[in-house]
Formats: sequence, C-alpha cells, structure tokens
Amino acid sequence: MNDLNIAIASADKSRLDEIGLALASAKRRLRVTAMQCAPQRLGAMSSQLSQHAADILVVDCRDGDAGALPVLEQIGIQYPRMAMVVLSSCESADFLLQAMRCGVREVLPSNADGAAFHAAIERIAAKAVKAGAQQEQSGKVLAFASCKGGSGATFLAANLGYALAAQGDARVALLDLNLQFGDAALYLSDGKAAATIADAVQDISRLDEAFLKANMMQVRFNLDMLAAPVDPARGLEIKPEHIDALIALAVRHYDYVILDLGRNLDALTIRALDHADTIFAVVQATLPFVRGAKRMLGIFESLEYPPQKVELVLNRFEKDAALSVKDLESACGASIRRTVAHEPHVAEAAANQGIAVMKLAGGSCIARNLENWAADLLGKAPVEESRWFNRILKRA
Ligand SMILES: Nc1ncnc2c1ncn2[C@@H]1O[C@H](COP(=O)(O)OP(=O)(O)OP(=O)(O)O)[C@@H](O)[C@H]1O
Ligand SMILES: [Mg+2]
Repeated sequence: MNDLNIAIASADKSRLDEIGLALASAKRRLRVTAMQCAPQRLGAMSSQLSQHAADILVVDCRDGDAGALPVLEQIGIQYPRMAMVVLSSCESADFLLQAMRCGVREVLPSNADGAAFHAAIERIAAKAVKAGAQQEQSGKVLAFASCKGGSGATFLAANLGYALAAQGDARVALLDLNLQFGDAALYLSDGKAAATIADAVQDISRLDEAFLKANMMQVRFNLDMLAAPVDPARGLEIKPEHIDALIALAVRHYDYVILDLGRNLDALTIRALDHADTIFAVVQATLPFVRGAKRMLGIFESLEYPPQKVELVLNRFEKDAALSVKDLESACGASIRRTVAHEPHVAEAAANQGIAVMKLAGGSCIARNLENWAADLLGKAPVEESRWFNRILKRA
C-alpha cells in the first residue's frame, strides 16, 4: 500500500474539515474524499466507496452512538478489503467490542490528531501487505466457448458467474470477450451498460482496479461485469495485449474471472484461452454440435492445452434425447462431467427479463445444476447434500 484512498464520512461539514486536516498531517500520501453523510445513512452512499476505491473508511460517530454499527457491518461485508476506522469519544469496552464485532478495525478518539491517524493507518497498511502476500495467488480464469453458435455458452457463463457469487463472498468478474456480437450483459441486467471493454482499454496506461471497476456494471456486491462494445467497430480497436493486461489485472482482484468468448477462434480469443485455467466447451446433444466439438477439441490439442484444461459441458440436456451422454462422449472422444437441463421456459424468462436464473427461478433444474457446478468449483458440498445435512442438524 503506497498511496492510500481514504473516505471520511461525517454528518457535520466542520468535522469533515477537521478530520481532513488531521489526516493531512499523517506522514503518508493519501487521497482523501469527504462524504457529508450521517453514518446511519452510509448504506445509501456506499457506491461512492467503490467509485473512489477507498482503502480506508473513516466514520465520525457521535459519542457512544452504536446505531451506525449495523450499517458499517453491512458495508464491511460489501467491501471486505476496505478497513473501517470509527471516531468516537466513547471508549466503553462495550462500544469497542461491538464495533470490532461489526468489522471495525480501529476506534480512535473523536479528536484524534495526525500522529494517532498515522499510527492507525500504518497498522492497517502493514496488515494489508501481509494479507496481500498471502493472497498473491490469483483468481481462477474460467473460459466459455461455443462448439457451435447458439450452444448456450453466454447464458451459462453469465449464470454460472451469478451462481458462484451468490454462494458466498467470492468476488466474480464476467468479461464479455465476444467483441463483435457480445450479449452477456443481457442475461444479468435489463439496463444498458454505461461503459464497455473498449472504454476500459482505450488508454491502457490508465487501467487499474478502480478504472476497471468504473467501467464495469455491478450486478451484485461481489459480481461485476464488463460488457462488450455495442458498436462492433470498437471491438476491432482491442488488441491481444489489451486482453493480457485486462485478465492479468482481473485475476489480481477477483477470485473468479469468467470469460465469454465468441464462436470464432481468432488471435484474440486464443490469447484469452491461453490465460484460462479451465475452458468449458459447450455442446448440445445433436450431430452438428458433435462435429463442432471435435473440431474445437482438435484445435485445443494443437494449441497444446493439456486435456484436463478443457471440459465438455452438455447444455439443454434431456434424459430421453436421441444421443445419450455415452454416445456423445464416444463421438467426441472426451468425457462430459457437467450437464445443464433443457428448460426453455426458465431460460427464456430469465433472458427476457435480464435476471439470473438462480434469482428468478431458484427451484428450477437449471438453477440446481448451476448451484452444484458452482459449489464444486468453490470446493463445497453439492447443494442437495448440504440442504439434507442442514435438515438433519435442525432435527437433532
Ligand atoms: N439450458 C437451457 N435450456 C433452454 N434454453 C437455453 C438453455 N441454455 C441456453 N438457452 C437459450 O439458448 C439461447 C442461446 O444461448 P446463448 O446466447 O447463450 O448461446 P451462445 O452459445 O452464447 O451463442 P453465440 O454462439 O451466438 O454466442 C438463448 O436464448 C438461451 O436462453
Ligand atoms: Mg454467446
């Protein structure tokens, strides 16, 4: 942590000035943003924290006023890497304990001076460096490729992203790398993306976490998506080195980076595939898809990807289909570990409304397939198993 972004929140303008002055005398380069807002109302202003990519939030609480703590707890869940510092002249053990339980890192006296801030900031920075070193391992890159157009690759990429994010606090990024005809945003939002990948990489020297986030659409607190350009011509501005920079940055800040690729395997797509830990090649149970899958697996082989990097996913699975899973496996020469049910009414409703299947139709077969897939990636028990276990626990 060198330059730190600090947000200060206080209902009182003169307090903001006072705290700003004290921070200015702390011996560190700080970028300070003042937010005039009562601590209890911070929830409504929390998007400003991501805009400013705050590393530390300093909250001016009135003496012994614990009312703001539940709000801070929510903010802490939303921004797990941001440290929260509370200023309060109440030093009761009860207040301190409650504050720490709500995720507050430091409680300083209301009249804390530059030296007190300096010491607190150094403690926070030292902890962050340690955590950063432990976290040096980067997020997993999961790429989705269509063995033939219309396989459902984009639908699965978007909905698996949602399923991964919904099962806890894993940070997930969905990058739409179908640069000519990308439509991943449609599966998670009914609004138009304000910015796209073309804006994010326009000036590659500016590309950092804050700039990337500012160009993404936040689907939920731990799921961001970078949309494809609306104008295919802007897609042509994107070069393979942009893809390298984008993915390298994303894996540093997200636990899962999901790439939705177009159906063309061009230089750019291959560059993205090179970064993938796993490539999900999506097929359906018909002969044209089998042909597409064989061709695609052949290309992956010639790119010298190890076989375990590629997983065939059977989408729109129906038990009584003319081609069984076994038939498909022997025709493609690869095993199929994952299937997702054919449920047109569910898929259509979700796509038409721009809502993730798990949110719109949590009990559907597609939702269960995706939940289990996500649980497997997260190293958790399959969903049915954990529900059954919880039921037993409740009865005991
Ligand atoms: N399991 C499913 N059951 C029913 N319909 C599905 C399922 N999965 C996807 N679909 C539908 O299939 C259509 C095509 O999906 P999608 O856009 O994801 O395909 P794609 O492989 O990304 O296509 P492209 O190659 O054009 O990028 C969508 O209308 C989607 O709602
Ligand atoms: Mg697609």
